[in-house]
Amino acid sequence: MKNTKFLTTPIYYVNDVPHIGHAYCTLATDTLARFWRGRVGEENVFFCTGTDENSQKTVDAAKKAGKPVRKYLDEMAENWRATWDRIGISYDDFIRTTEARHVETVHEILKKIWEAGDIYRGKYSGKYCTGCETFLKDSDLDADGNCPDHRRKPEILEEANYFFRLSKYEGAILELFEKNPEFLLPESRRNEILSFVRGGLDDISISRESAEMGISCPWDENHKIYVWIEALINYRTVCPSEDFWNGVAHIIGKDISKFHAVIWPAMLMSAGILPPAGIFAHGFFTIDGVKMSKSLGNVISPVDLAEKFGNDALRVGLLGSFEFGNDGDFSVANFSDFYRTKLAGGVGNLFNRVLVLAKKFKIESRAEISTEILKKFDKKLENYEIRGAIEQFFELVGMSNERLNETEVWKLAKANLASAEKIFSELLGHLATLAEMAEVILPESAGRMREMIEKREGGVLFPQV
Ligand code: ME8
Ligand code: MG
Repeated sequence: MKNTKFLTTPIYYVNDVPHIGHAYCTLATDTLARFWRGRVGEENVFFCTGTDENSQKTVDAAKKAGKPVRKYLDEMAENWRATWDRIGISYDDFIRTTEARHVETVHEILKKIWEAGDIYRGKYSGKYCTGCETFLKDSDLDADGNCPDHRRKPEILEEANYFFRLSKYEGAILELFEKNPEFLLPESRRNEILSFVRGGLDDISISRESAEMGISCPWDENHKIYVWIEALINYRTVCPSEDFWNGVAHIIGKDISKFHAVIWPAMLMSAGILPPAGIFAHGFFTIDGVKMSKSLGNVISPVDLAEKFGNDALRVGLLGSFEFGNDGDFSVANFSDFYRTKLAGGVGNLFNRVLVLAKKFKIESRAEISTEILKKFDKKLENYEIRGAIEQFFELVGMSNERLNETEVWKLAKANLASAEKIFSELLGHLATLAEMAEVILPESAGRMREMIEKREGGVLFPQV
């Protein structure tokens, strides 16, 4: 079997512009993609992202903007794509769910589920939140009967729907979790979803008769497929081959883990397709302790931060703030401190000082990479410990700066060049190892780091802002 990696982000709703929550997930997936490219070869890694467009939210947002839906969608999809380009996301494919290739795959898969006898017609009445694009139970609502995430009353929807026999797959889903402890990570999420499945699975409605927008059911023109059901299928639309499917890992936020770890594998099983190899659901972060929201006006644009601090800073600043998989907090003040002390002061100073001195004393020794350090770094990324990998990088920076200061190698070089050379060779090795790690976590600086090492030349990696 080929050693492949197929990495996906969620496809984001286009009723809004990208914020740093979306950028967090996309940057994490991009970082994993860069890591795996180095590990299994560029041609064996496929990484995609995209936009989820067939949603009532989209129609409402277009109306609000006073634009025809088509035009609105094109502009928003372009905005998302341009944002990812701007912050250095190395996606191999970008999927829009309004594309013909997607409609084709959705029809193909739903036909299979239909033929398996897993779809039936029924009636549904319930409380629907357009914000979540899902039915909510009374127990999901807050004391005022509002959706706790969107702070508004769900609508009562009653309509004839088609249902998917999710209940039939309860045992198979449990077995999937039991056989593969890494099917859903981190463990806290796994336990949460597992106990939800153990509580019993109900069949779910998968079509909307009243929807203004969407992909129609292949067996009934009058019904549109529920947006979540067709959105999940995007991963099949973009998958380049079955070899890649064997190595698929969905990177998502914890808010959408039920859809990915329960409904999606059941749909695939019904269609006769292997369930995903792995899912990692990361946590959510607040801004200065407060939930990020438009109404609070504390939404941060990744492009604004990138423009001021650069793409690499945005990446390690976000991914280094808290453990991947845990909830956390982000603050621009801390980020700015981090930039000044750890990037400009730590990394930037180290490279500049060592290389200026190496040139001055004409140090010829090779900069030898430490495979031992890299192995530990790789192990972390293999296990989704993105923050751990970033910490390891900064530990080596700190250690090297300390070594430089302690040995006062600039004085030593004047007194005893031979023993100074030993220290220089050690430090140059550290720089080379750091440049190697930077390929994954500071990709825009990595080339410049290498060039500086090669030419034995100082310079500014992270300018003062
Ligand atoms: O749910 N902290 O799209 P979406 C961390 N279209 N991550 C955050 C975040 C925060 N504060 N806010 C958002 C959808 N995210 C569907 C997905 S996939 C087949 C369909 C991230 O635009 C997080 O990764 O609401 C979350 O899962 C995602 O944005 C939701 O994006
Ligand atoms: Mg959302």
